[in-house]
Amino acid sequence: MDGAIAWNHTTGVDIDVPRENWASRMGIILAVAGSAVGLGNFLRFPVQAAQNGGGAFMIPYIIALLLLGIPLCWVEWTMGRAAGSRNHGSGPGILNVFWNHRLSRYFGALGIFIPLMIYFYYVYIESWCLAYSWFAISGSLGSAAGSNNAGDFLSAYQGLKENQWFSGISEAYIFFIITFFVNFFFIYLGVAKGIETISKIAMPILVILGIVIMVRVLTLGAPDIAKPDWSVNGGLGFMWNPDFSALADAKVWLAAAGQIFFTTSVGLGLIITYASYLKRDDDVALSGLTSISINEFMEVVIGASIAIPAAFVFFGPVGIRDIAAGGAFNLGFVTMPMVFSQMPMTAALGFMWFFLLFLAGVTSSISMLQPGIAFLEDEFSLSRKQSVGLLSAVSFFAAQPAIFLLDKGVLDLMDFWAGTFAIVLFATGEVIIFGWIYGIDRGFDQLHHGADIRVPKFFKVVIKYVTPAYLLIILGYWSYQSGLDQLLLRKVSAENFPYALGTMLGMALFLAAIIAAVEMAWRRKETS
Ligand code: ALA
Repeated sequence: MDGAIAWNHTTGVDIDVPRENWASRMGIILAVAGSAVGLGNFLRFPVQAAQNGGGAFMIPYIIALLLLGIPLCWVEWTMGRAAGSRNHGSGPGILNVFWNHRLSRYFGALGIFIPLMIYFYYVYIESWCLAYSWFAISGSLGSAAGSNNAGDFLSAYQGLKENQWFSGISEAYIFFIITFFVNFFFIYLGVAKGIETISKIAMPILVILGIVIMVRVLTLGAPDIAKPDWSVNGGLGFMWNPDFSALADAKVWLAAAGQIFFTTSVGLGLIITYASYLKRDDDVALSGLTSISINEFMEVVIGASIAIPAAFVFFGPVGIRDIAAGGAFNLGFVTMPMVFSQMPMTAALGFMWFFLLFLAGVTSSISMLQPGIAFLEDEFSLSRKQSVGLLSAVSFFAAQPAIFLLDKGVLDLMDFWAGTFAIVLFATGEVIIFGWIYGIDRGFDQLHHGADIRVPKFFKVVIKYVTPAYLLIILGYWSYQSGLDQLLLRKVSAENFPYALGTMLGMALFLAAIIAAVEMAWRRKETS
């Protein structure tokens, strides 16, 4: 462990305190890549691309990557590393280092709120992947899918109906508990021993599994001679043939920006926390770019070459449209088991697919817990044990609605407010603080401190003007298009209204509690 500098709020003097560090450069690159590579790469991306203009989707996607994803990734790595050396590893403290005003701390509370809110439902979906890995090996999934019952299998597993496979939610709950504790186990081991170790093990396995499944899918050809156009080439064509008329629709641009946020994990408060465990002279420019490149490879090359092309081969050019419209969960948990059930080695392929998703999920979800842990450790000086104890109790309680109220729209609301809207809001605040309040010249110097590459000057203009403008347009358009409807729950059915209201109040209370904790932490420090 390395000595680091902590900022004493009353005296303004830097004092030495020990702070955890990553054990290796490869470790943090893989940890950030692990956070980025998730269910979004294998399920969300292919569906988004297929629904939003196919190959033409790549134009707004690449523009968003260059003008939002990469610049924000550099901003977050730079901010996190600088604040970490002052012993701050979560949103409030990190933003406060760059803007010494209490508002920055309150706003920074989003950097704890967002990842935790996402964790509260993400961990449940991740547990389905573990469960399905098991059901694939044990054969029950293959037989259900083989008789066209993969949809019923999923609904019964989720406790939404009863049938020969499941009655009640007990299996789902057991897998949820296992997954929940796997996450906290690695968090408990700490940054280097826990997060870094699992990332170094899981990421190579993930890449290998991804490549094996991709090669299997790409060698499918056209298995049915009677339907020569139901081929993998046709599937790739469906995925990539550009429909340029889609680019006239603002929704396609929003979808591309949303996908860049979700997949690269920028704006979630995760990267700033991970970067806070860097040493002061560690490179951030090349490391940031490397981790984002790994994510893009796992998304555009591997993610795009598995689910949609495989589904096309077995469901054809008409069926694939319904599948793409059916969304990411259907594609992953209903269509893919049906695809594998028609291929040799059903059990092995099913296991590989769901275990790939599980590994991708775990390396993402542990990163959602670390900001909360960093907040408790850095700002309240709690021990790891105390922080893990407190956060696991809160998370366990808060994860229940996504399990028991799955069909009441609770998950969608959490996903909209925390997983979509708040991310863009937080990123907007970060980039304005970095480029305008702290100052782009100083910010760019910080980015280059210890850097192994020089970032083109063009990005100075991008970070100062283009990224914030892009973000403000997205925020403005969303607010205009659906903000009020979402806020007033106008599109929620009467039956689901009480649940939706409860979810909104719960989220507001949780955010208020984090802001109150921030205030308490700083008062404590000021009086100590
Ligand atoms: N970046 C993570 C994913 O793609 C959250 O799933």
